[in-house]
Amino acid sequence: MSALHHETSEITAIILKAAERARRETSNEPEAAFVNRAVNWPVACEVGPGLEGAIACESKVGYVNGTKGWLVYRGYDIFDLCAYSTFEEVSYLLIHGTLPTAAQLRDFNRRLVGYRHLPWTLSRMMSFPVKEFNAMAGLRLGVSMMRQRLTYRDSESARPEPATAIGTDEDSIPMEVRPYGEEHAKYEFGPGKAERPEDARKTQDAAFGLEACCHLISGLATITAAVARLREEKLPLEPDPELSHAANFLYMMTGRRPTPLEERIMDVALILHADHGMNASTFACMVVASTLSDIYWAVGSGISALNGPLHGGANEMVVRTLQEIGSPKRVNAWFNRARARKQRVMGFGHRVYKAYDPRARVLGPLAEYLARTSKPAGRLYGVARALEDKVIAELGHSRKIFPNVDFFSGIVYTALGIDPGMFTPCFAVSRVSGWTARTMEYLENNRIFRPRAMYTGDMNLRYVPVRKRSGKE
Ligand code: CMC
Repeated sequence: MSALHHETSEITAIILKAAERARRETSNEPEAAFVNRAVNWPVACEVGPGLEGAIACESKVGYVNGTKGWLVYRGYDIFDLCAYSTFEEVSYLLIHGTLPTAAQLRDFNRRLVGYRHLPWTLSRMMSFPVKEFNAMAGLRLGVSMMRQRLTYRDSESARPEPATAIGTDEDSIPMEVRPYGEEHAKYEFGPGKAERPEDARKTQDAAFGLEACCHLISGLATITAAVARLREEKLPLEPDPELSHAANFLYMMTGRRPTPLEERIMDVALILHADHGMNASTFACMVVASTLSDIYWAVGSGISALNGPLHGGANEMVVRTLQEIGSPKRVNAWFNRARARKQRVMGFGHRVYKAYDPRARVLGPLAEYLARTSKPAGRLYGVARALEDKVIAELGHSRKIFPNVDFFSGIVYTALGIDPGMFTPCFAVSRVSGWTARTMEYLENNRIFRPRAMYTGDMNLRYVPVRKRSGKE
């Protein structure tokens, strides 16, 4: 067990208790039909709207059992990974298929540390009005810049000589040069800060490779933190090579080195969100990559899909809902009004889970733990518990609508000092591991995604020239 886990044994105890409860409550449920079956294509399956029930591919990356409420990455139970692992290890597991040895983990960490520095990308981002963007648009912009920087795929002829890779145009970007606060942490975008890998020339065609996955897993955290800072009119911070991925992410966002407890909770949140079957954003990545557009384009599409309120955008909406309700006493009236308006309760329901989401089983108790010491989280948590009781009583056992991962994550992020506008980007910082792992796996046996639509429109209409159209045709 790592030193971090020793220092935060209370968190481990909370996770193990959640695991024990989950196993006790779900062990008699039937097995799902989607595992360990030989697939002989084409497969027969019943497909509903939104491709419900469709089998899009085979995968060894992860498994969701919606009836039991299980989540498994590469054969490992999510509760065990949360209790004993780290986000770095889990990312390695997802993209490589096995847990790393100590030497492999060291090497992987070294790569992540190297790719965390993105001065070229950040300096380019700063010439856009990122503060006015939806934060997820900032992430998409950043990923496009990362693609350009690592791959140089589009600019072969215009590519600068390595000696002048950091051009004078960088120096001309107006920015604050006298650091305040974290004195030496601010990016100064000087010539000595190039993140360009030594073998950048060789990486031109590596936009699909494992190196690109590391670049994206590491870099998206830097970009997200920079977006958070730019939204607050602060300059991005340089990463600290001594810190873990979770600690660095929090540090680069807030400018404060997190406590071991905060680091561990962020780490658990990153592990919990890292992969989740053929969710909309993962599928979006895979569809884009299946055209042989590269993995940076694919991840850009994943970010776009994750942004929506029915997917990753729900975590921010949950906190807004809890704020709107304001007090546990007002939950019943709010719920009845919402039902009358046929409004969905954000943070509840799931296409696959018809049981309690295992990720919410961990995040709920963590939110409760944090609510004891964080006033803003405490206020939200009180309302959340009352809302959870109400929704489960009304829709739980009858409609199989239970809390999902997004219900408690916003409260946890609030306690960590993260602004609601950055909740969905935090989700992306984690899910990029699943996006890249599944995209890489799919590309091993790639076939372009190309479903068909059932045509329900007219046929054989007579073409009427514009001057003769009445508008009633
Ligand atoms: N509140 C109230 N009713 C709901 C909810 C909800 N949150 N979710 C589903 N239902 C009802 C829905 O109205 C429908 O009822 P009816 O059959 O009477 O029309 C029934 O349950 C089935 O809903 P559906 O839209 O067919 O379910 P779906 O599988 O297409 O959608 C979902 C799944 C997650 C989009 C949906 O449950 C939802 O909109 N939830 C709220 C948004 C949310 O929390 N999203 C985060 C999902 S988990 C993490 C992630 O993916 O990012």
